[in-house]
Amino acid sequence: MNAPTPDAPILFFDSGLGGLTVLGPTRALLPTAPFVYAADYAGLPYGGKSNEELAARVPALLGRLVERYQPRLAVIACNTASTIALAHVRAALDLPIVGTVPAIKPAAELTRSGVIGVLGTEATVRQPYVDDLGARFAGGKTLLRHGSPGLVTGAEAKLRGAAIDPSVIARAVAGLRDQPGGDALDVVVLACTHFPLLRDELQAAFGPDVRLIDGAAGIARRIAYLTDGQRWPGAASPGLAVFTRSQDRTPPPLAALAPFGIGAIETI
Ligand code: DGL
Repeated sequence: MNAPTPDAPILFFDSGLGGLTVLGPTRALLPTAPFVYAADYAGLPYGGKSNEELAARVPALLGRLVERYQPRLAVIACNTASTIALAHVRAALDLPIVGTVPAIKPAAELTRSGVIGVLGTEATVRQPYVDDLGARFAGGKTLLRHGSPGLVTGAEAKLRGAAIDPSVIARAVAGLRDQPGGDALDVVVLACTHFPLLRDELQAAFGPDVRLIDGAAGIARRIAYLTDGQRWPGAASPGLAVFTRSQDRTPPPLAALAPFGIGAIETI
């Protein structure tokens, strides 16, 4: 690949608004990086879809987005899409792809009790990818998993300014706590990029003895590493948010996205 021009964007991709939690730390490291944030509202939520459906959908859609926006690098800012389709995407596309996978390795380094929670979508928590991460990095530790579609809906609603139903948070926490060993949890991996949007609510419900961790800072460092030496514009300009057209979901108002550096919305 030729060296990218300074205005070649970084493409962030998620089913919805969760990937904004990855965009934030990346902008902190690379403040003038142009970016396109793409949300597959026509496919949201991914957590209820089959592996087959996502393994076909994600590479096809990313292919379309890469052709349209010519990014220098694409970030799959979604654990569900990454744990299922990362290899398919890498095989199909000729540009660097950064994935988002559950932060089990740092969790295993942090836990003192040896009991780690993995809170993700229903699809993510059943993936063999998660078994592999557990076997490689958390041998001898207990990994409790819970899939919560309610937190995805809650995070989307919160960004639009809606109040969070406390029972949604309570159910997600109980999904881990009520499993055998759950009272000894001391680290919980937020294994869905939507969930850090509800960090305060989750932290209050788990209590101060539980550390909540996610992989966003590590992903930002990885992006900076992979683009090291490339040219960027001299000043930041507003990013573009792109939504796939959905029958029953409309993009949020621009004011909700502006704090993330987004200045325009497009529907495709
Ligand atoms: N944000 C996504 C993730 O990280 C998935 C949300 C969904 O579409 O279910 O897994």
